[in-house]
Amino acid sequence: EYKRRKEMFRAHDLAAKYYHHILMNTDVGLPALRYLEERGITRTTMEAFSLGYAPQGWDVLLKFLLKRGFQEDLLLEAGLLSESANQKGRCFDKFRHRVMFPIQDGQGQVIGFGGRVMDKDAKPKYLNSPETPLFHKGRHLFNLHRARPDMRRVGQVIVLEGYMDVITAHQHGIGHVVAALGTALTVDQVRLLQRNVQEIVMMFDGDEAGQKAALRSLDVVKESGSEVKARVATIPDGMDPDEFLGTYGKEAFTRVVLDNASSTTTFRMLALRKDFNLATQQGREDYIKSVISQVLSTVQSPVELETHLKELSEEFGYPREALLEEVALTRKKAP
Ligand code: GTP
Ligand code: MN
Ligand code: MN
Ligand code: MN
Ligand code: MN
Repeated sequence: EYKRRKEMFRAHDLAAKYYHHILMNTDVGLPALRYLEERGITRTTMEAFSLGYAPQGWDVLLKFLLKRGFQEDLLLEAGLLSESANQKGRCFDKFRHRVMFPIQDGQGQVIGFGGRVMDKDAKPKYLNSPETPLFHKGRHLFNLHRARPDMRRVGQVIVLEGYMDVITAHQHGIGHVVAALGTALTVDQVRLLQRNVQEIVMMFDGDEAGQKAALRSLDVVKESGSEVKARVATIPDGMDPDEFLGTYGKEAFTRVVLDNASSTTTFRMLALRKDFNLATQQGREDYIKSVISQVLSTVQSPVELETHLKELSEEFGYPREALLEEVALTRKKAP
């Protein structure tokens, strides 16, 4: 069992090196190299992340690893091969004609891959390694081992959505960044982070999916029972961090993180606004009631509560005493 895991690690290490070599040094890899260059990724960054290219053929990696003595069934279990649907026992390379992003564990060992298509319409856009003995997607974070020293130094981690977001941030000199490998953070991932930082800043894509994932991640941080602080930084204009950095640069990015990152409470309040028509009296009233029952009645700190009641009072013209009473009533009903 232990020996088999070790073999799987070794297969991933060799696969990553092979894909990387094809990207950097061969004609076959040229389209992928051009693709990454067009996206602004430098060769230094490609080296730093051991980016690669998985070629077109059905059994390029398979042949390479068989020659090095690996067994087909081990490579299949490791997620590097796929099994043919109609011919049982027939295996082929899982990743073909994709730009490859190695995923490493906390020690920096390669345990899986994400592979991106280069053609606009090809689907799925990203193919990720399946769950394997080495790779459990909810238990790892992309870039964690590389980011850890910076995370500790800054006391903060910025959680981004995608591989390219992390890579672009790193290239801009922002090292304390990781990506959750699904959509929202998991409890296991929060545990990995809180060992190293005091604060988690969620910076997901500016689209609706990203904002939903951010909200869910906040819930997960709460669930985890961790003392770590969590905030959400919202990127303007529906952009993602990669696009934002490319358009506005590092200073603007840092400003979004510092100034624009809402506390959990503010973010929840903002997220609720979309559900109500604030142009009508009834809508405003319903919004305030929801904010109080769903958000403010759970705020433990009286000081924080006061801040938000004051905001609400100023925006909607209700006396803060009335709002406070509403909070008290809600708490009595559902302690
Ligand atoms: P680029 O288009 O290369 O800039 O990637 P992106 O990270 O901006 O893509 P997007 O915001 O659509 O997705 C965010 C992350 O979700 C990706 O980095 C992947 O980890 C994952 N993801 C995106 N598309 C797919 C998909 O089709 N399948 C799977 N399994 N994961 C995906
Ligand atoms: Mn190299
Ligand atoms: Mn997205
Ligand atoms: Mn994105
Ligand atoms: Mn993107």
